[in-house]
Amino acid sequence: MKKIVSKNTNGLNGCIEIPADKSISHRAAIFSALAKGTSIIKNFSNGADPLSSLKIMGQLGASYEFVSDNSVKITSNGSLKRPSAPLDCGNSGTTMRLISGILAGQNFKSTLIGDESLSKRPMKRIIEPLTLMGAKISSNNFKAPINISGCKLGAIDYNSRLASAQVKSCILLAGLHANGETSFTEPYLSRNHTEIMLEAMGANIRTDNTTTFIQKSELKPLEINICGDISSAAYFIVAGLIVPNSDIILKNVGLNPTRTGIIDIIKQMGAEIEILDEYTFAGENAGDLRIRASELKACTIEKDIIPRLIDELPIIAVLATQANGNTIVKDAQDLRNKESDRIKAIVTELSKIGANITETEDGFIIQGKTQLSGDAEVECYNDHRLAMSLYVAGLICQKPITINGFEWVNISFPTFEAHMNQLSE
Ligand code: S3P
Repeated sequence: MKKIVSKNTNGLNGCIEIPADKSISHRAAIFSALAKGTSIIKNFSNGADPLSSLKIMGQLGASYEFVSDNSVKITSNGSLKRPSAPLDCGNSGTTMRLISGILAGQNFKSTLIGDESLSKRPMKRIIEPLTLMGAKISSNNFKAPINISGCKLGAIDYNSRLASAQVKSCILLAGLHANGETSFTEPYLSRNHTEIMLEAMGANIRTDNTTTFIQKSELKPLEINICGDISSAAYFIVAGLIVPNSDIILKNVGLNPTRTGIIDIIKQMGAEIEILDEYTFAGENAGDLRIRASELKACTIEKDIIPRLIDELPIIAVLATQANGNTIVKDAQDLRNKESDRIKAIVTELSKIGANITETEDGFIIQGKTQLSGDAEVECYNDHRLAMSLYVAGLICQKPITINGFEWVNISFPTFEAHMNQLSE
């Protein structure tokens, strides 16, 4: 689907509710199916990715029912059954990596498949540590399809070279079914939704610095009201900062400190942002944000902040085109392994619309401030985050842009444009 985006000349104004967090929704669907009893999940994401997780847990024996538009009830007897068909993870790396950790320790065989993009993504990062635990896995040269012959697993102490919440969660979920205590150490702390939710469900889990320990545990059902996704809010945060005369309020934004790298960075860049109300629900912080159009200065983004804003880097690139000076992003090599090679994609597409951006091996350098010209057709590489980032860029281009493949926003944020329109009325 082609989407034409034109300059916004009035500014964005008003208040919107940010839809449910994708990472937390995945975990709620997956972990509820491991607990004996009925779990109630309010404000479950309507993105295609979390729905892939929910459907697979259904194939593995849990039953689920939407009791309203976005509340789902999941019932399980606490054990999973052999699926009668391959498990289709669609576009979702989180689904494939987390569920692999569970399937490795079951007493049946299963196969995980994915779409074209997911079938190209690296799975060695989970297959290697799972194999160390005793798992029996074959794959297409460490890519999907992944065939798992479930078996008894043993605990390991794993030192990960990557700060990846998907790898961490995979190993912790395998550890939940393994004999002994498993530990997972990462170079920097990645998002910790798995740890928070498993603890709330009664698992024997604890974190010390960047090491998390887990032992075999029974889970109790979950009751949760999922907060809004800061990764979805990020498009509005940036739009509010760069579209002149904007003043917006974003309600119910998840503010888990392992996810708030973007807030730290925009404050450093001089953004006018206020946290109006902050609260905690089921161990996760959330709050309302007020954002106003601001004069911005460049900054360097590197090291331990990278996992705290990894999904926001494409939209941060758009932001950096409007900041004075050189914004440098480094230590973000893993961006090349996302739904697309996000380094190459963002550099290629922002260059087309007039940004001064240079690709590096592990990031990019942007020289600002630039008046984006637009007047080009841009590609989103079947990547939802590219589609939304380019849309926001289109709001400040002199001439309209055409985004090809805009329907990919449905992966995480089907109502993205409707939300944007609410702020432009
Ligand atoms: C996620 C972890 C991150 C992130 C992805 C969601 C999760 O991936 O990019 O969108 O829910 O655990 P990595 O673990 O590969 O960094």
